[in-house]
Amino acid sequence: MFVCLGNICRSPLARAVFEHRAAALGVSERFEVDSCGTGHWHEGRGADPRSVSVAARHGVELRHVAKQFVADRDVPRFAHLIAMDSQNVRDLVSMGAPRERVRLLREFDPALAGATGAALNVPDPYYGGPDGFEEVFRMVRDACDGLIPRLLAGA
Ligand code: 4NP
Repeated sequence: MFVCLGNICRSPLARAVFEHRAAALGVSERFEVDSCGTGHWHEGRGADPRSVSVAARHGVELRHVAKQFVADRDVPRFAHLIAMDSQNVRDLVSMGAPRERVRLLREFDPALAGATGAALNVPDPYYGGPDGFEEVFRMVRDACDGLIPRLLAGA
């Protein structure tokens, strides 16, 4: 389960990129993938059009309906709760997620091995320009390329 704040920009993109790359590797059936937000404001809405655009520019289809994280529903369903930034991690834990099941997405980027703190955040692009969404796409893609083999190996 990919998690961000609003569930309209980062985590829907992470979910779509993960599914796209898993399909390219022929391993889609090995995973159940979803996304949610720690906030409730955008529930029921589609993804931010800027996330849809950046996905489309990279050949990734992004279909999405936003929802908020609910511990009773989501914790039993997902082995891994994969947060975009450290605030998401804190919010997830305060909402009832077991800390040991929560990871930061960029921990799985092979180029960031050993990095800590803010270097592992996928920055919130909501109030910025289109360059921010392109940067988020690259971060999410690089991290998913590390995440998929780790999960297949039983991480
Ligand atoms: P996301 O971005 O967490 O990547 O979906 C945001 C979307 C909306 C808001 C904040 C972040 N918001 O404050 O409405």
